[in-house]
Amino acid sequence: MPKKIYVAPTIERKIAGITGKFASSIPTYEDSIEDIPVNSLTQKYSSPLFVFSEHTMRAKYKEAYRTFTLQYPKVRFAWSYKTNYLAAICAIFHSEGAWAEVVSGMEYERARALGIAGKQIIFNGPAKSRDDLKRAVKDDAVINIDYLDELFLLEDIAKELKKIPRVGIRVNMDTGIYPVWNRFGFNYENGEAYRAVQRIVVGKKLNLVGLHCHIATFVMEANAYYIAASKLLRLAETIDAEFQIGVDFIDIGGGFASTNTLYEQYLPGDISSPDINQYAEHIGRAFNESRFARKNQPVLILETGRALVDESGYLITSVVGKKTLPDGQRALVVDAGINMLYTSTWYKHNFTPAQPITGTIENTTIYGPLCMNIDVLRLGIRFPDLQVGDKIIVSPVGAYNVTQWMQFITYRPNIILITPDGKTEIIREKENLDDVLIKERTPKHLLASLSRSGKLDKK
Ligand SMILES: Cc1ncc(COP(=O)(O)O)c(C=O)c1O
Repeated sequence: MPKKIYVAPTIERKIAGITGKFASSIPTYEDSIEDIPVNSLTQKYSSPLFVFSEHTMRAKYKEAYRTFTLQYPKVRFAWSYKTNYLAAICAIFHSEGAWAEVVSGMEYERARALGIAGKQIIFNGPAKSRDDLKRAVKDDAVINIDYLDELFLLEDIAKELKKIPRVGIRVNMDTGIYPVWNRFGFNYENGEAYRAVQRIVVGKKLNLVGLHCHIATFVMEANAYYIAASKLLRLAETIDAEFQIGVDFIDIGGGFASTNTLYEQYLPGDISSPDINQYAEHIGRAFNESRFARKNQPVLILETGRALVDESGYLITSVVGKKTLPDGQRALVVDAGINMLYTSTWYKHNFTPAQPITGTIENTTIYGPLCMNIDVLRLGIRFPDLQVGDKIIVSPVGAYNVTQWMQFITYRPNIILITPDGKTEIIREKENLDDVLIKERTPKHLLASLSRSGKLDKK
């Protein structure tokens, strides 16, 4: 008979039948992802492990596209690369019809390397270099201008290349959610955005094809989008009336909430986040009310990121140790840390045990494997008694983790995709020492002292 594992005794008040207002205090378990057992996934691909569902991504995209086109017929999604720019993930959204939305030279290069034509790239961002801009102008990408220096730089490039760049301007505005994001683009209320357009018209070197805004991220107030779209459309109408320029695009940016739960939220995100219908209704209403939209039928561009991808991503992590903190609280050490789950600094993710629940439910803090005090994935959640080797599924984690993660202390893990026919494919291999060392160079005079280290000898 195997030796029984010691479990520290605890005294806890039991309140039979109480489930909490939203039944969220009763932990449940989930031992598979899309019918594939978690244990078989970690046996094959090791732990920790990111898992993405192609089915969920495609279903989310189709639902969003359908919902918006019911409100307004000319809709184009532009996949927000920074949200998740793994080639396989981008390929899924591009194959559904999305263009690319990029915010740096690196992201621009990525999109081009994936075969996206310049005409299908929206180039945003506050720090585009001259070379980045030249390339985008040559490729006919849409460049959304962030400030006057960029506008002047583009005019200069236009002169040099003897080519008229296709530009939009990024507009910031008060939409009733605070603090207002006003560090990007030109302000609407104080007339700065209008003056930027005037400057483009007077300069005669740029072709104004669109107006853009990205009001914030994880916006819980869908009505803010009615205000944003109305203001952009009003500006478009003024530009049309005064300068006879009817812009082709009204780009509302991203920012729709996923079903994650922010730390400051009381209710869980799957109850409190607006669904895609609510955002679509508000934006659609602004378009339907706009004389400019009725007359010119501009394309509505959406740069939605997290709302399309967050729910398709899971992180499987394993318990490597258990401890009792001095205040008696239970703690678990798991093999995934904040180095791969950056969003744990602002979300209360779902932590779901991946095996039947045993033992008592107690407040439990979940620590990552890094030798850093800040490596905390969740503080004090109601959690069952897990043992070393047990697995936990963290979700949703599809947005902003596998781009904002960092190579720090440990290697980054495998990422797999579950295909619609239930197969699994690696879409990013776990790292090894070669990946970490590949960009390093060791000066000759230091090599001697490393001569026994093997790998570095070669450099
Ligand atoms: C310009 C721009 N567009 C789109 C997005 C995507 O936003 P989200 O993932 O919140 O939809 C971002 C993210 O910050 C952004 O900066």
